[in-house]
Amino acid sequence: MKLLVTGGAGFIGSNFIYYIQKHYDDDILCMDALTYAGNLETLTAAAKSPHYSFVRCDIADRDAVFKVFEAFKPDIVVNFAAESHVDRSIENPGIFLQTNVMGTQVLMDVCRKYGIKRFHQVSTDEVYGDLPLDRPDLFFTESTPLHTSSPYSASKAAADLLVLAYHRTYDLPVTISRCSNNYGPYQFPEKLIPLMIANCLNDKQLPVYGKGLNVRDWLYVEDHCKAIDLIIRKGKVGEVYNIGGHNEMANIDIVKLIIKTLGKSEDLITFVTDRKGHDLRYAIDPAKIKAELGWEPETMFADGIKLTIDWYLENRPWWERIVSGEYREYYEKMYGNR
Ligand code: NAD
Ligand code: TYD
Repeated sequence: MKLLVTGGAGFIGSNFIYYIQKHYDDDILCMDALTYAGNLETLTAAAKSPHYSFVRCDIADRDAVFKVFEAFKPDIVVNFAAESHVDRSIENPGIFLQTNVMGTQVLMDVCRKYGIKRFHQVSTDEVYGDLPLDRPDLFFTESTPLHTSSPYSASKAAADLLVLAYHRTYDLPVTISRCSNNYGPYQFPEKLIPLMIANCLNDKQLPVYGKGLNVRDWLYVEDHCKAIDLIIRKGKVGEVYNIGGHNEMANIDIVKLIIKTLGKSEDLITFVTDRKGHDLRYAIDPAKIKAELGWEPETMFADGIKLTIDWYLENRPWWERIVSGEYREYYEKMYGNR
């Protein structure tokens, strides 16, 4: 099978490529624009496989995307490519609409032309908005109304609606997954967990927004990859699947756990001005994917966070080169003269 993975040089996309390589012999083409969040060093091991190739391409660049499809002719497209950071969307919403909405439209237009077997949209639980902190009995199901808070989540919700419209109108064989917060190897150190690990290791202050009481439902990235793999092979066309592991934690508790694991002092914690429109709580009900596809998370948070902290300890050069900005020279060095 030929798999086109967009955004494969980012956090979840790269973990997905490694997951597929571990379990199948599929031909994989990673298509990524290499924005600030894309890092080809992450894919060094993946690139050793004869079944893997890479093309630098913006999903919103219609002509370039058509050329890539003409040459590769994928069976399945999994769209991870996105602007993904809420704080950046608050500063600069435009690029979120361009990539997350217009880019998704371009991909689906080209999928229509080439008659692919499946277009899978990797979405987020943030499309449902947030839940109150004092109602632990409430969860997001696939029929919870979309009710977004940030330009990021609004752009993802817009894309989801467009994906469902392409299914209904043009019969495009689509699926959508909406996952909770991921953590694990190769996450860009602008997101909560890797940022706190990197700052802790550098004895830098740990910026906690507001009082740190906001709750997220954390899932180890490999469990997310496994769910997407099940959906693209066994999921029902036209369906949305929620993915989450019933692992809710307040931000401050995560930060304290990281501090304790790394043997640092809680004095590093600095409470800073809250994020604008900050969602209070996310919590997924994963009953549908469990009942229909037999998916369940395999990595408990206690194990996953240890694996993640160990990974950042063992791969210091990977994130230090990101923090210093050096990683951006890698593409030029590797591909500049090719
Ligand atoms: P990321 O920011 O780490 O990676 C995004 C990748 O997309 C990067 O490699 C970047 O270069 C690439 N990209 C950005 N704009 C592009 C464009 N115009 N054309 C081609 N490539 C482009 O993001 P992530 O955390 O790996 O998230 C991947 C997907 O999963 C996103 O769609 C995100 O909305 C979704 N998601 C993320 C989480 C999470 O916790 N990180 C949870 C649920 C869903
Ligand atoms: P983040 O990793 O940006 O994911 P999301 O906002 O998409 O859930 O943030 C996770 C939580 O951590 C969120 O409630 C905001 C908070 N946060 C901080 O308190 N400090 C930080 O430096 C960052 C990046 C996030």
